[in-house]
Amino acid sequence: MDSRAIENSLRADIDGAATPDDLESVRVRYLGRKGVITAYLHGIKDAAPEDRPKIGAEANRLKTLCESLLEDRAAAFGGGVNPHYEPPLDGTLPATLGVAGRRHVIAQTFRRIRDILEGMGYRLARGPEVELEYYNFQALNFPDEHPSRDLQDTFYISKDILLRTHTSPIQVRFMEANRPPLKIYAPGRVYRNEAIDPSHQAEFHQVEGLYIDTDVSMADLRGDLIAFSRELFGPSTNVRLKPHFFPFTEPSVDVDVTCFGCGGGGCALCGQTGWMEIMGAGMVHPNVLRAVGCDPDKYSGFAFGVGVDRIAMVRHGITDIRLFLENDLRFLDQFEEPTS
Ligand code: DAH
Repeated sequence: MDSRAIENSLRADIDGAATPDDLESVRVRYLGRKGVITAYLHGIKDAAPEDRPKIGAEANRLKTLCESLLEDRAAAFGGGVNPHYEPPLDGTLPATLGVAGRRHVIAQTFRRIRDILEGMGYRLARGPEVELEYYNFQALNFPDEHPSRDLQDTFYISKDILLRTHTSPIQVRFMEANRPPLKIYAPGRVYRNEAIDPSHQAEFHQVEGLYIDTDVSMADLRGDLIAFSRELFGPSTNVRLKPHFFPFTEPSVDVDVTCFGCGGGGCALCGQTGWMEIMGAGMVHPNVLRAVGCDPDKYSGFAFGVGVDRIAMVRHGITDIRLFLENDLRFLDQFEEPTS
């Protein structure tokens, strides 16, 4: 090798050294007893006399160069750990993908419910979280003395303004602005002045459904509830309607579905009853229709209100509602985005 070739390979070897050990083998390879530079110097004895001074000088230059390159490189390792050292890029290695975030389990549940209801012809409607007392209570036929109007249950901002306690006021707003036929779902966050425990939170989530047309009956309600529940919980799910009371529906029902955990046999999830209560529903009260200028003799309709937190809990076997708001990644990371 001539001295140019030696210098080139020396520089390449030093660049390629990733550890102090690599540097040591480079030193031995060039400056050791049988090293490349040493061999070059020994070549002096076979050279023509007039070439010898040049070879001697070149050998010295290479030796000094090698030592100083080794020294610089060793200094860059900083005693073995070099914060700036980056190994040469290997384009053949598999890529490391960054950790992508995921949707909150409540958002996942909202999207699942949305997909089902949109598939059934319901269209999105929205309303404000800071709501007028009128839409939250009065237009929904709540009597003045109704207990849920109490400060103990509702967060008031002023006498007339509050944090909505349910998504039902969106029904009223939508009916005020649109004429039947109408079929909407309205997702949202709601607030109640609750004592917080594993099944109560002051902030939770609902999806409201509303269908108004001529000749809508309780049978239509039942049909949609069955279709919705079977999509959400599986095709063998049954629905049971129990008489209940809500001011804004008449008749009113509580809606039970076959327990998701046991299929009806009884388990811890359903308190051994085989049923789970997941929503309230009913036929829209004539007074509510009147409040929005809709003739109850001509139109009828049904409404339902789904507890989203409750649905997420039964679908995933979650036993403490407070986990939803704690934003602990060890909890949240357990829930995969649904495919749709
Ligand atoms: N708004 C009720 C609540 O928060 C739920 C509800 C019941 C909504 C019956 C409805 C309904 O639309 O028809 O408890």
